[in-house]
Amino acid sequence: MSTSLVPFNGITFTVHTFGCQMNKHDSERVYGTLESLGAQAVDTVEESDIIVFMTCCVREAADTRLYGQVMSLKNVPLRPDSPLDKRIVAVGGCIGQRDGNKLIEKMPHLDVVFGTNNLSSLPQLIKETMRDKQHHVATVEESSTEATELPSDREHSWAAWLPITVGCNNFCTYCIVPYVRGREKSRPLEQIAAEASAYAKAGVKEITLLGQNVNSYGRDLYGEPKFAEVLDAVAESGVDRIRFATSHPKDLTDEVIERFATIPNLMPALHLPAQSGSDRILKAMNRRYTVEHYLELIDKLRTACPGIALSTDIIVGFPGETEEDFQQTYDLVKHVGYAQVFTFIYSKREGTPAAKIDDPTPHEVIQERFDRLVDVVQQGAFDYNQPFANKTVSVLVEGASKRDARLLVGRSPQNQTVHAPIPEGMGISDLAGRFVNVKVEQARTWYLRGSLVAGPFDHDQTNPEL
Ligand code: 5AD
Ligand code: SF4
Repeated sequence: MSTSLVPFNGITFTVHTFGCQMNKHDSERVYGTLESLGAQAVDTVEESDIIVFMTCCVREAADTRLYGQVMSLKNVPLRPDSPLDKRIVAVGGCIGQRDGNKLIEKMPHLDVVFGTNNLSSLPQLIKETMRDKQHHVATVEESSTEATELPSDREHSWAAWLPITVGCNNFCTYCIVPYVRGREKSRPLEQIAAEASAYAKAGVKEITLLGQNVNSYGRDLYGEPKFAEVLDAVAESGVDRIRFATSHPKDLTDEVIERFATIPNLMPALHLPAQSGSDRILKAMNRRYTVEHYLELIDKLRTACPGIALSTDIIVGFPGETEEDFQQTYDLVKHVGYAQVFTFIYSKREGTPAAKIDDPTPHEVIQERFDRLVDVVQQGAFDYNQPFANKTVSVLVEGASKRDARLLVGRSPQNQTVHAPIPEGMGISDLAGRFVNVKVEQARTWYLRGSLVAGPFDHDQTNPEL
């Protein structure tokens, strides 16, 4: 970053984020970077001098939404007391990386485009636009962990995302991510350990380790995956709760599974995308595991950590999927009994190998399969929650419910959403970012509801030794 930067004093901005946790984390870096230069985050586009979109191109729906939102800005006037004479609109993230200059051709009122590896260039690009009123575009191809060093302004002071790798080497045939995020790069273990312990010292209660495939962490740096060591190092920080996403089943090792038994602050929840329950489709997706292997992992996880909350991603309608293939997916989802399943209809992404496969299956057939799957997903979530009725769970409070300000909302160790009335005499500011014990009265499909029976505490009561 240039030292000649004029700080953005008096300038306001908003950041609009689409997509995954990695994007949300990148947005925290945009907040941190612009704020460190004097800009002020505001709530609405009407008040914003700079508008940044952090975009996702994993599925087509996100592309369409971006164009709609950017185009609609044309009708929103700049606030009268803005120090700028024209609003600056910037698009970053995956669509910025993929489309670069093409975005400006399509949307001429866009000022700045920056790629997934150009987060640190954003202030410079904005400054150049302020000066010369021209468009500025930066999209370097090679992935870099540089952005992980930028200042970050976290959404919640008690929760932190900690990126351990950027990029992906897997090339699942449907997926655009390796093309827009580049090859996998790991951050040094010491750096991760130091960051985790700084977070714990600063009062962070939950750290979520991030990477497209955390299980292959370290292969580029150390010649072998070392994710289990990352978990050990982060556990040493003493942070109350550790989570991670995402895991690729082909790289999930016995050592990592064993950590669920041995690290008390590693939460009993794992997101393990299956994508399909058909070996034929898994092969066509280049996933490099079989259903049998996947089920073995599930067994081992349940042995190491009884009651672990398993979640997954499923794609319905991958090109060439037959009714029989789909039935196998349906059976897998039913058999595993996931706490949560993220279901997606296959979306063709130009440039990926799967985009070249023709599939005459009508959309209605795929939609009908999707609807059938959603039914079994809901049943699974409901069944998973039932044993929690009448039990007491430790909840990290996130805030008040948006629908009813008298309710607190937080998360159980299994990552279930938990609601409970805020007790008389307490406000949400006494509770947010702290732990309470909630006795569950109702176990519903998507949440548990109960009453606060103890707390607030500064540490997670599921781990009394902490
Ligand atoms: N179409 C539909 N779903 C996709 N995903 C990734 N690429 C596509 C695509 N082209 C899903 C996968 C992945 C999740 C983040 O998004 O299930 O795990
Ligand atoms: Fe995409 Fe596969 Fe990499 Fe996940 S592992 S980001 S699905 S290529």
